[in-house]
Amino acid sequence: MNIFSEVHTIREQSRAWKRQGLRVGFVPTMGYLHEGHLSLIECALQHSDRVIVSIFVNPTQFAPDEDLDRYPRDHEGDIKKITDAGAAACFLPPVEALYPEGAQTFVEVKELTRALCGVERPTHFRGVATVVAKLFHIVLPDVAVFGKKDYQQLVTIQRMVRDLLMEVEVIGAPIVREEDGLAMSSRNVYLSDVQREDARALNQALKLARQAFASGERAPAALLDVVRGQLSGREHLRPGYVELRDSFALHTAQEPLDGTERVFVSAYLGQTRLIDNAPLSGECSLPES
Ligand code: PAJ
Repeated sequence: MNIFSEVHTIREQSRAWKRQGLRVGFVPTMGYLHEGHLSLIECALQHSDRVIVSIFVNPTQFAPDEDLDRYPRDHEGDIKKITDAGAAACFLPPVEALYPEGAQTFVEVKELTRALCGVERPTHFRGVATVVAKLFHIVLPDVAVFGKKDYQQLVTIQRMVRDLLMEVEVIGAPIVREEDGLAMSSRNVYLSDVQREDARALNQALKLARQAFASGERAPAALLDVVRGQLSGREHLRPGYVELRDSFALHTAQEPLDGTERVFVSAYLGQTRLIDNAPLSGECSLPES
């Protein structure tokens, strides 16, 4: 596995593979990799011949009061995991490589980023769309894989690709969870034992929503009450948003629900913000019991 830190060398590598008729897959990450990230590499390997993984903690997607400085990092461990997972290259650029001095160009996906995480983090998706657009221009992928864990991010990138006529196929991969159902996240390392215990309420709340839908509940308000009930009354958890939205445009779900909608939740455990989501019916990775 080759490691690149310069824009022109990784781009040249990608071009060389394409000249050989190979399909290039891409998995962008911020590092501190866990099994969720590795599942994206596995998915990319199924859809391409050479997989490039990027590790870049993107400053423009963090607000000034967020965890940019203390975001967990482990380049050595990450490189071993990426190698073992079968990726062909890792792109690890310094900040100046992606943001030349005086950079003043940003990509903004409007409506899709105003709801959900966009309310709590108003500048976040502008930073995400901008860095992903830059990475796509550098890596020149035929296919890129994003996790449904960050569902709003996935649909935002899909919209950006359509709107800007980019030639990349964007695939959404299932959420990988801990045994008790907690969605894996690099930020889970911030949780104390008691916070970790309360964090289970997120996926339990999603499961209750699915059960309520399966039992015939079709009213959004009643279903959201079930979710809020599960998140409330926990000493170490402060609920953020609890919403039901359609899976494509992220419009607020209407009555009667038909099962294609998704439940979205966010919560704060101390300073740590966690998110999760699940479809009301159909395939999903929440544990059975
Ligand atoms: P990061 O949080 O490192 O996540 C990288 C990719 O891994 C994203 O597509 C995310 O949805 C996916 N992912 C994280 N946890 C997952 C899980 N438990 N199951 C499945 N997929 C999971 O998302 C970012 O970085 C950044 O915003 C980025 C896209 C790299 C732009 O800076």
